[in-house]
Amino acid sequence: MSLGRASGKAILLGEHFVVYGAPALAVPLKARCVEVELDFASPDWDVPELCRPLLEKMLLLLGLKPTETSLRVSGDLPLGQGLGGSAALAVALLRSLGYTDERELQERAHALERLSHGEPSGIDDTVVSWERPVYFIKGQGAQVLAPCDGFRLWVATTGDKGSTKEAVANAARWRRKNPIDFHTMNERATELVDGARIDLESGAFEELGDKMSENHGLLRQLGVSTPTLDRLVSRAIDAGAWGAKLTGAGLGGAIIALAPEGCDLSNVLLESGAQEVIAP
Ligand code: MEV
Repeated sequence: MSLGRASGKAILLGEHFVVYGAPALAVPLKARCVEVELDFASPDWDVPELCRPLLEKMLLLLGLKPTETSLRVSGDLPLGQGLGGSAALAVALLRSLGYTDERELQERAHALERLSHGEPSGIDDTVVSWERPVYFIKGQGAQVLAPCDGFRLWVATTGDKGSTKEAVANAARWRRKNPIDFHTMNERATELVDGARIDLESGAFEELGDKMSENHGLLRQLGVSTPTLDRLVSRAIDAGAWGAKLTGAGLGGAIIALAPEGCDLSNVLLESGAQEVIAP
Protein backbone atom coordinates (compact mmCIF):
# COMPACT_ATOMS: atom_id res chain seq x y z
CA MET A 1 0.00 0.00 0.00
CA SER A 2 1.46 3.38 -0.94
CA LEU A 3 0.10 6.79 -0.06
CA GLY A 4 0.14 10.07 -2.00
CA ARG A 5 -1.19 13.40 -0.83
CA ALA A 6 -1.73 16.75 -2.59
CA SER A 7 -3.30 20.01 -1.53
CA GLY A 8 -5.76 22.13 -3.49
CA LYS A 9 -5.24 25.57 -5.03
CA ALA A 10 -6.93 28.90 -5.43
CA ILE A 11 -6.48 31.11 -8.47
CA LEU A 12 -5.98 34.60 -7.14
CA LEU A 13 -6.44 36.40 -10.44
CA GLY A 14 -6.42 35.67 -14.16
CA GLU A 15 -8.39 32.44 -14.66
CA HIS A 16 -9.88 31.95 -18.15
CA PHE A 17 -7.78 34.80 -19.58
CA VAL A 18 -4.73 32.61 -18.82
CA VAL A 19 -6.01 30.16 -21.45
CA TYR A 20 -5.50 32.95 -24.05
CA GLY A 21 -2.02 34.00 -23.01
CA ALA A 22 -2.64 36.44 -20.14
CA PRO A 23 -0.71 35.81 -16.91
CA ALA A 24 -2.40 34.48 -13.77
CA LEU A 25 -1.62 34.16 -10.06
CA ALA A 26 -2.37 31.09 -7.97
CA VAL A 27 -1.68 29.93 -4.43
CA PRO A 28 -1.73 26.45 -2.92
CA LEU A 29 -4.60 25.75 -0.54
CA LYS A 30 -2.57 23.88 2.03
CA ALA A 31 -5.44 23.64 4.51
CA ARG A 32 -7.21 21.12 2.29
CA CYS A 33 -5.89 17.98 0.64
CA VAL A 34 -6.70 14.79 -1.23
CA GLU A 35 -5.15 11.46 -0.24
CA VAL A 36 -4.78 8.48 -2.53
CA GLU A 37 -3.90 5.01 -1.24
CA LEU A 38 -2.83 2.62 -3.96
CA ASP A 39 -2.37 -1.12 -3.80
CA PHE A 40 -2.10 -3.97 -6.26
CA ALA A 41 -2.89 -6.78 -3.82
CA SER A 42 -6.69 -7.06 -3.89
CA PRO A 43 -8.67 -4.94 -6.39
CA ASP A 44 -11.06 -2.85 -4.34
CA TRP A 45 -12.21 0.76 -4.85
CA ASP A 46 -13.30 3.19 -2.18
CA VAL A 47 -13.51 6.51 -4.04
CA PRO A 48 -16.11 9.30 -4.32
CA GLU A 49 -18.48 8.58 -7.25
CA LEU A 50 -17.64 12.00 -8.74
CA CYS A 51 -14.02 11.10 -9.38
CA ARG A 52 -14.31 7.40 -10.29
CA PRO A 53 -14.50 7.83 -14.12
CA LEU A 54 -11.61 10.30 -14.06
CA LEU A 55 -9.43 8.03 -11.91
CA GLU A 56 -10.09 5.08 -14.23
CA LYS A 57 -8.90 7.14 -17.19
CA MET A 58 -5.87 8.37 -15.24
CA LEU A 59 -4.82 4.82 -14.34
CA LEU A 60 -5.16 3.66 -17.94
CA LEU A 61 -3.04 6.58 -19.15
CA LEU A 62 -0.41 5.58 -16.61
CA GLY A 63 -0.43 2.04 -17.99
CA LEU A 64 -2.31 0.53 -15.01
CA LYS A 65 -5.44 -1.59 -15.19
CA PRO A 66 -8.27 -0.26 -12.95
CA THR A 67 -9.47 -3.86 -12.47
CA GLU A 68 -6.09 -4.85 -11.02
CA THR A 69 -5.75 -1.84 -8.74
CA SER A 70 -7.00 -1.15 -5.27
CA LEU A 71 -7.65 2.54 -4.70
CA ARG A 72 -8.87 4.59 -1.75
CA VAL A 73 -9.44 8.33 -2.03
CA SER A 74 -9.99 10.44 1.05
CA GLY A 75 -9.28 13.95 2.26
CA ASP A 76 -11.06 17.21 2.95
CA LEU A 77 -10.58 19.13 -0.32
CA PRO A 78 -14.08 19.86 -1.71
CA LEU A 79 -14.21 18.37 -5.22
CA GLY A 80 -15.86 20.11 -8.18
CA GLN A 81 -15.53 23.49 -6.43
CA GLY A 82 -12.81 25.17 -8.53
CA LEU A 83 -10.20 24.39 -5.88
CA GLY A 84 -7.97 22.16 -7.98
CA GLY A 85 -9.65 18.83 -7.19
CA SER A 86 -8.67 17.14 -10.45
CA ALA A 87 -5.07 18.41 -10.30
CA ALA A 88 -4.81 17.31 -6.66
CA LEU A 89 -6.13 13.84 -7.55
CA ALA A 90 -3.56 13.59 -10.34
CA VAL A 91 -0.66 14.73 -8.15
CA ALA A 92 -1.71 12.55 -5.20
CA LEU A 93 -1.98 9.52 -7.51
CA LEU A 94 1.45 10.25 -9.03
CA ARG A 95 2.96 10.65 -5.56
CA SER A 96 1.45 7.32 -4.52
CA LEU A 97 3.32 5.83 -7.50
CA GLY A 98 6.58 7.28 -6.23
CA TYR A 99 6.99 10.44 -8.32
CA THR A 100 8.67 13.15 -6.26
CA ASP A 101 10.52 15.50 -8.64
CA GLU A 102 8.28 18.56 -8.93
CA ARG A 103 8.99 19.23 -12.64
CA GLU A 104 8.25 15.61 -13.57
CA LEU A 105 5.18 15.61 -11.33
CA GLN A 106 3.90 18.75 -13.05
CA GLU A 107 4.47 17.40 -16.57
CA ARG A 108 2.73 14.13 -15.79
CA ALA A 109 -0.07 15.84 -13.86
CA HIS A 110 -0.58 18.10 -16.89
CA ALA A 111 -1.06 15.04 -19.12
CA LEU A 112 -3.59 13.66 -16.61
CA GLU A 113 -5.36 17.04 -16.36
CA ARG A 114 -5.97 16.94 -20.10
CA LEU A 115 -8.29 13.99 -19.46
CA SER A 116 -10.67 16.18 -17.49
CA HIS A 117 -10.62 19.40 -19.46
CA GLY A 118 -9.04 19.09 -22.89
CA GLU A 119 -6.53 21.92 -23.14
CA PRO A 120 -5.75 23.16 -19.61
CA SER A 121 -3.44 26.16 -19.38
CA GLY A 122 -1.28 24.28 -16.87
CA ILE A 123 -1.73 26.68 -13.96
CA ASP A 124 -3.59 24.13 -11.78
CA ASP A 125 -1.10 21.30 -12.21
CA THR A 126 1.80 23.71 -11.67
CA VAL A 127 0.62 25.22 -8.39
CA VAL A 128 -0.58 21.86 -7.05
CA SER A 129 2.65 20.03 -7.85
CA TRP A 130 4.94 22.90 -6.75
CA GLU A 131 2.86 23.74 -3.65
CA ARG A 132 4.01 27.36 -3.82
CA PRO A 133 2.37 30.62 -4.96
CA VAL A 134 3.06 31.23 -8.64
CA TYR A 135 2.88 33.81 -11.41
CA PHE A 136 2.07 31.75 -14.48
CA ILE A 137 1.98 32.29 -18.23
CA LYS A 138 0.79 29.46 -20.48
CA GLY A 139 3.66 28.06 -22.51
CA GLN A 140 6.24 30.08 -20.56
CA GLY A 141 6.02 28.34 -17.19
CA ALA A 142 5.82 29.83 -13.74
CA GLN A 143 7.76 31.94 -11.28
CA VAL A 144 7.50 31.33 -7.55
CA LEU A 145 6.18 34.26 -5.49
CA ALA A 146 6.60 35.18 -1.82
CA PRO A 147 3.42 36.79 -0.47
CA CYS A 148 4.02 39.45 2.18
CA ASP A 149 2.99 38.69 5.78
CA GLY A 150 -0.65 39.45 6.42
CA PHE A 151 -1.95 37.76 3.27
CA ARG A 152 -5.18 36.25 4.59
CA LEU A 153 -7.35 34.49 2.03
CA TRP A 154 -10.86 33.25 2.80
CA VAL A 155 -12.49 30.60 0.64
CA ALA A 156 -16.22 29.89 0.49
CA THR A 157 -17.71 27.07 -1.56
CA THR A 158 -21.21 27.27 -3.04
CA GLY A 159 -21.69 23.48 -3.24
CA ASP A 160 -22.78 23.95 -6.88
CA LYS A 161 -20.61 21.70 -9.03
CA GLY A 162 -18.89 23.71 -11.73
CA SER A 163 -17.66 21.94 -14.85
CA THR A 164 -14.33 23.42 -15.96
CA LYS A 165 -14.81 22.02 -19.45
CA GLU A 166 -18.20 23.71 -19.78
CA ALA A 167 -17.00 27.01 -18.31
CA VAL A 168 -13.97 27.11 -20.63
CA ALA A 169 -16.28 26.32 -23.59
CA ASN A 170 -18.66 29.13 -22.53
CA ALA A 171 -15.78 31.59 -22.32
CA ALA A 172 -14.55 30.48 -25.76
CA ARG A 173 -18.03 31.03 -27.21
CA TRP A 174 -18.23 34.48 -25.65
CA ARG A 175 -14.81 35.32 -27.08
CA ARG A 176 -15.85 34.20 -30.58
CA LYS A 177 -18.95 36.40 -30.43
CA ASN A 178 -17.20 39.43 -28.90
CA PRO A 179 -13.60 39.41 -30.17
CA ILE A 180 -12.94 43.12 -29.69
CA ASP A 181 -14.37 43.28 -26.17
CA PHE A 182 -12.51 40.10 -25.29
CA HIS A 183 -9.24 41.60 -26.47
CA THR A 184 -9.79 44.67 -24.26
CA MET A 185 -10.71 42.48 -21.29
CA ASN A 186 -7.67 40.26 -21.81
CA GLU A 187 -5.43 43.33 -21.78
CA ARG A 188 -7.08 44.60 -18.60
CA ALA A 189 -6.73 41.15 -16.98
CA THR A 190 -3.02 41.25 -17.82
CA GLU A 191 -2.63 44.67 -16.16
CA LEU A 192 -4.54 43.50 -13.10
CA VAL A 193 -2.42 40.38 -12.67
CA ASP A 194 0.87 42.19 -13.19
CA GLY A 195 -0.16 44.83 -10.63
CA ALA A 196 -1.51 42.22 -8.21
CA ARG A 197 1.76 40.36 -8.26
CA ILE A 198 3.52 43.47 -6.94
CA ASP A 199 0.74 44.11 -4.39
CA LEU A 200 0.96 40.52 -3.12
CA GLU A 201 4.70 40.66 -2.53
CA SER A 202 4.75 44.22 -1.14
CA GLY A 203 1.74 43.83 1.17
CA ALA A 204 -0.50 46.35 -0.64
CA PHE A 205 -3.53 44.23 0.19
CA GLU A 206 -6.18 46.91 -0.19
CA GLU A 207 -5.03 47.47 -3.78
CA LEU A 208 -4.83 43.71 -4.33
CA GLY A 209 -8.42 43.38 -3.08
CA ASP A 210 -9.60 46.07 -5.53
CA LYS A 211 -7.94 44.22 -8.39
CA MET A 212 -9.58 40.93 -7.34
CA SER A 213 -13.01 42.57 -7.34
CA GLU A 214 -12.41 44.14 -10.74
CA ASN A 215 -11.27 40.73 -12.01
CA HIS A 216 -14.57 39.28 -10.78
CA GLY A 217 -16.36 41.88 -12.93
CA LEU A 218 -14.44 40.69 -16.00
CA LEU A 219 -15.37 37.07 -15.25
CA ARG A 220 -19.02 38.07 -14.86
CA GLN A 221 -18.89 39.77 -18.23
CA LEU A 222 -17.42 36.58 -19.68
CA GLY A 223 -20.49 34.69 -18.43
CA VAL A 224 -18.83 32.32 -15.96
CA SER A 225 -20.25 33.73 -12.72
CA THR A 226 -23.60 32.80 -11.14
CA PRO A 227 -26.03 34.73 -8.91
CA THR A 228 -24.75 32.76 -5.88
CA LEU A 229 -21.12 33.59 -6.62
CA ASP A 230 -22.04 37.27 -7.17
CA ARG A 231 -23.95 37.35 -3.90
CA LEU A 232 -21.09 35.83 -1.90
CA VAL A 233 -18.62 38.26 -3.47
CA SER A 234 -20.70 41.34 -2.66
CA ARG A 235 -21.54 40.19 0.89
CA ALA A 236 -17.86 39.57 1.62
CA ILE A 237 -17.01 43.09 0.48
CA ASP A 238 -19.92 44.60 2.46
CA ALA A 239 -18.61 42.73 5.53
CA GLY A 240 -15.18 44.38 5.28
CA ALA A 241 -13.17 42.32 2.77
CA TRP A 242 -10.67 44.32 0.71
CA GLY A 243 -11.84 42.40 -2.35
CA ALA A 244 -13.43 39.17 -3.51
CA LYS A 245 -14.01 37.16 -6.66
CA LEU A 246 -14.94 33.76 -7.96
CA THR A 247 -11.97 31.43 -8.19
CA GLY A 248 -11.28 28.75 -10.79
CA ALA A 249 -13.54 28.05 -13.71
CA GLY A 250 -16.80 29.33 -12.19
CA LEU A 251 -20.37 28.30 -13.14
CA GLY A 252 -20.53 27.16 -9.50
CA GLY A 253 -17.58 26.35 -7.31
CA ALA A 254 -16.11 28.83 -4.87
CA ILE A 255 -15.20 32.43 -4.15
CA ILE A 256 -12.14 33.85 -2.45
CA ALA A 257 -11.97 37.01 -0.36
CA LEU A 258 -9.02 38.96 0.98
CA ALA A 259 -9.67 40.54 4.35
CA PRO A 260 -7.77 42.40 7.05
CA GLU A 261 -6.83 40.63 10.27
CA GLY A 262 -9.76 40.69 12.69
CA CYS A 263 -12.36 40.66 9.91
CA ASP A 264 -14.21 37.35 10.32
CA LEU A 265 -16.24 36.51 7.22
CA SER A 266 -17.50 33.07 8.35
CA ASN A 267 -20.99 33.99 9.49
CA VAL A 268 -21.79 36.40 6.72
CA LEU A 269 -20.70 33.92 4.04
CA LEU A 270 -22.60 31.01 5.60
CA GLU A 271 -25.71 33.18 6.03
CA SER A 272 -25.40 34.21 2.38
CA GLY A 273 -25.57 30.61 1.17
CA ALA A 274 -21.99 29.31 1.32
CA GLN A 275 -21.84 25.58 1.87
CA GLU A 276 -18.49 25.73 3.59
CA VAL A 277 -16.05 28.45 4.62
CA ILE A 278 -12.32 27.84 4.82
CA ALA A 279 -10.80 30.49 7.08
CA PRO A 280 -7.23 31.73 6.49
C1 MEV B 1 -9.31 26.42 -13.95
O1 MEV B 1 -8.87 26.23 -12.61
C2 MEV B 1 -8.62 27.59 -14.57
C3 MEV B 1 -9.05 27.95 -15.99
O2 MEV B 1 -8.36 29.13 -16.35
C4 MEV B 1 -8.74 26.84 -16.98
C5 MEV B 1 -7.26 26.67 -17.23
O3 MEV B 1 -6.47 27.57 -16.94
O4 MEV B 1 -6.91 25.62 -17.77
C6 MEV B 1 -10.54 28.25 -16.08
